[in-house]
Amino acid sequence: MATITKKLATLLNDQIRAEIESAYLYQDIANFYFEEKLVGFSKWFDKQAEEELEHAKKIIDYLRENGVKVVLKDIAAPKRTLKELRDGLVLQVKHEELVTSLIYKLMDQAIADKDYRSQSFLKWFVDEQTEEEGHSHELLEKFDLYGKDLSVLYKLDREFGERK
Ligand code: FEO
Repeated sequence: MATITKKLATLLNDQIRAEIESAYLYQDIANFYFEEKLVGFSKWFDKQAEEELEHAKKIIDYLRENGVKVVLKDIAAPKRTLKELRDGLVLQVKHEELVTSLIYKLMDQAIADKDYRSQSFLKWFVDEQTEEEGHSHELLEKFDLYGKDLSVLYKLDREFGERK
């Protein structure tokens, strides 16, 4: 069993909250697009919310396996700031960049602790963030290219809705 330092344990417990808050935020964005009749966009964010819960569970499992107490913290309700259709996609880009910075802080701590097992565990999240940031940029770029034409927006909505 690896020894996880108190500092890293606190950061990992904080990250559980950050992942669940991400799920909550993406669920709100999914609801926004559903209300705007873009069911494909809505489905994309439904899936994103599910993935964030899986990320939280991954950390919970890691802490359990390493004998660290899981401490669940308050989850803040997202404040709805979305007005235009583009806003949800911009928010996703910004939010994923924020999460990446949190993951890097975790990795910095694991490196400082010479905790090689946690570094290996966190590498999955570093890679996942690369992927998620990439997707968020791609969606925004597509919207900016095609989103103004309503008939194309409809096709884009279908494409987004095909996410597995
Ligand atoms: Fe779990 Fe999108 O960060």
